Amino acid sequence: MTSAESSTSTSASTSASTSASTATETSTPTSTDLVPAPRTVDGPHRTPFVFATGTALAAAPGTEGVARWLRTVVGTALGRDLPPGAAGADHTITLLIDPSLAPEAYRLTVSSAVEIVGGSSAGVFWGAQTLRQLLGPDAHRRACPDPEARRGVPHQVIEDSPRFPWRGLMLDVSRHFLPKDDVLRHLDLLAAHKLNVFHFHLTDDQGWRIEIKRHPRLTEVGAWRERTKYGHRASALWDERPHGGYYTQDDIREIVAYAAERHITVVPEIDIPGHSQAAIAAYPELGNTDVIDTTTLSVWDNWGINPNVLAPTDNTLRFYEGVFEEVLGLFPATFIHIGGDECLKDQWKVSPAAQARIKELGLADEDELQSWFIRHFDSWLADRGRRLIGWDEILEGGLAPGAAVSSWRGYAGGIAAAEAGHDVVMCPEQQVYLDHRQHGGPDEPMPIGYVRTLEDVYRFEPVPPSLSPEAAAHILGTQANVWTEVMQDRSRVDYQVFPRLAAFAEVAWSALPAPAERDFADFERRMTAHYARLDALGVDYRPPGGPLPWQKRPGVIGRPIEGAPPNV
Ligand code: ACM
Repeated sequence: MTSAESSTSTSASTSASTSASTATETSTPTSTDLVPAPRTVDGPHRTPFVFATGTALAAAPGTEGVARWLRTVVGTALGRDLPPGAAGADHTITLLIDPSLAPEAYRLTVSSAVEIVGGSSAGVFWGAQTLRQLLGPDAHRRACPDPEARRGVPHQVIEDSPRFPWRGLMLDVSRHFLPKDDVLRHLDLLAAHKLNVFHFHLTDDQGWRIEIKRHPRLTEVGAWRERTKYGHRASALWDERPHGGYYTQDDIREIVAYAAERHITVVPEIDIPGHSQAAIAAYPELGNTDVIDTTTLSVWDNWGINPNVLAPTDNTLRFYEGVFEEVLGLFPATFIHIGGDECLKDQWKVSPAAQARIKELGLADEDELQSWFIRHFDSWLADRGRRLIGWDEILEGGLAPGAAVSSWRGYAGGIAAAEAGHDVVMCPEQQVYLDHRQHGGPDEPMPIGYVRTLEDVYRFEPVPPSLSPEAAAHILGTQANVWTEVMQDRSRVDYQVFPRLAAFAEVAWSALPAPAERDFADFERRMTAHYARLDALGVDYRPPGGPLPWQKRPGVIGRPIEGAPPNV
């Protein structure tokens, strides 16, 4: 290596200064195109490692899963078998673990051989994702379009590690069911962006999506609705087709295993005590039967905050303990999400049974009744070695020490929780709700919420500067949330999620400077290469120039939020 050939960067923001033009042999992109940006890159240099028929793969103990992924995904995409080879040999990709590195950190060395060293198999896997990006867009296909193509990766050394241990995406499969194959594909897309938590929003008023063996009506009845509001609840339009679906327990096991192979943890959400009309439609005794005739309820076909919340009875507690027992058997994650958001108290206020419960427990009011509900499952989960996480409303009545908070109503809940010593996942709706429109123009399909552009997401900061260092240490990380009221299918989900998830991934992974100092122009430049990867992956992202004709939904009302531009 000569100094003329090399350039060393010490941070994500300066890696842009390395020149892509030093790559030879092929038009293979260089490390300067990586998304999310790595911490440091030494290189790229002129000479390429050539990924060819003879390229072999050597997997040290503990890295066999990554080797399988490289062979089946990258090898298949590039038409190479990657036969077993000798560690460290030329023309060989060697995978190994060095426990002196942080668990998710990796070092990727490209010379006449490739070596990926990770602090654990997760680190090796993230390094393999980086190698895939270096191999070019075709490495993101499902079969090889051109087996004759010479594919070179310029010599370089990349050292990288994530900023946060929780880099997530929440997907709502209740408002619109997403078939299992689409969920698996989504996990691949998370992995391609080095995201490692999949928050699976499985239950809501509009549908119950997970088979529970001891309560079969949850899916027999609760997974189906007669029709669906099309657009905002004020819209006059209906989709009159019945809608629904659910995952069997085998589907769930498959999803969890598929995620685990990609070093993604699946955090299931069962939302209580609000957002429960689908469950009550299936089992009317779960509702406030002394207030309304719950036998008349069906799975909700509209949007908004629903008054039909769970009755605070022993029967309800036992029912949900049964649900959670099956959930714990399916999901190995430490954290179990119990929702806890937007629980209207109107029915409890007029329910003699709920009022009697408040009195019997010596509680002050209905807010404390909600806390009692949450605390019951907080200790129930803790007794079983798990930790409760819920939306920031759960903070209002006090929490057990191990419980964590998803801060969605802005930063405030997360700040209060972190200062009180609780772990926090920052996901403020003002910044990272990807159902919100990504442009102020009239062509966005069913535009709702704030305008949050790619640049806005790129400048999102998960750790508020006002936090004390002790409290800041409680920010586990961040996640983007995808509520699907106005996303009827996978293509609509793609449009809302991409390209903003790429910006979000960089916020969650990379060592970015303060928001105002972030080099968005360089990110946009790297996005040019990334769009080609998304194209190869078959993602229906929002093009930089705006929606394609078939991506528009003219005439469907969105939802104005104060301060947001008017809807079409
Ligand atoms: C939420 O958006 N209701 C968590």
